[in-house]
Amino acid sequence: MSQKIIIANWKANPDSPGRAVRLAKEIERGAAKSKKVEVVIAPPAPYILSVRSVIKKTKLAAQNVFWEGLGAYTGEISWRQLKHCKVNYVIVGHSERRRLLGETDEMINKKVIACLKNGLSIVLCIGEPKSVRSKGMLAVKKFLSSQLSKDLQGTKPLVASHKLLASLVIAYEPIWAIGTGKADNPEETALLISFIKTLVASGYSLTPRVLYGGSINAKNAKSFLSHKEIDGALVGGASLHLQEFLKIVQAAE
Ligand code: PGA
Repeated sequence: MSQKIIIANWKANPDSPGRAVRLAKEIERGAAKSKKVEVVIAPPAPYILSVRSVIKKTKLAAQNVFWEGLGAYTGEISWRQLKHCKVNYVIVGHSERRRLLGETDEMINKKVIACLKNGLSIVLCIGEPKSVRSKGMLAVKKFLSSQLSKDLQGTKPLVASHKLLASLVIAYEPIWAIGTGKADNPEETALLISFIKTLVASGYSLTPRVLYGGSINAKNAKSFLSHKEIDGALVGGASLHLQEFLKIVQAAE
């Protein structure tokens, strides 16, 4: 079984660099005790470097990336700049960016390609809205498979030639479960994660790591993480509360 990954997705939190550094230090101290889990912090961009300076065992992720390396792209953070910041992962295609900022599958595909070509590991987020889930599992599988094929379009030769599958992590995050306190049913999640693995493996001949995200907390973490198909969790709200987050890390142990 591969090592579980627990990612703290802080989103646009906390409200000061001082708080970010303090929380990162505490997570580092707490996570240092865990032998089997890969703990990752994804701070907002302005805090990336200060968080990096206080973590050692804990890994670092960016919450977004731009597909060009350098140039006239006001407000964007390029893959090249993130490489200099030595991030271990880049989150791509989070549903909040798709929904609130109009990120399309075409844009996400450009980000995926730029990262894979330039040696940045990605955490690609996919997931269906409530309207699709209410139609049943077949509709969800169809939705996920279409999202995956659009987001990963053109990456097969890249992955094959550079043996990059280890750098491809997928986060299955049903949109209706994010930030709502209504996590998915762990058994259905495990089935869908197996489906995603089989789908990607059939095209790439290797199996990616697939995480679950959506209202994970200290109470429900074990019910997800005890499934061998679920390789970890992308944690939003609960990752801002030290004890809660460390309990999730313990559940992954
Ligand atoms: P949540 O967020 O844990 O607050 O539901 C998860 C995510 O958006 O990655």
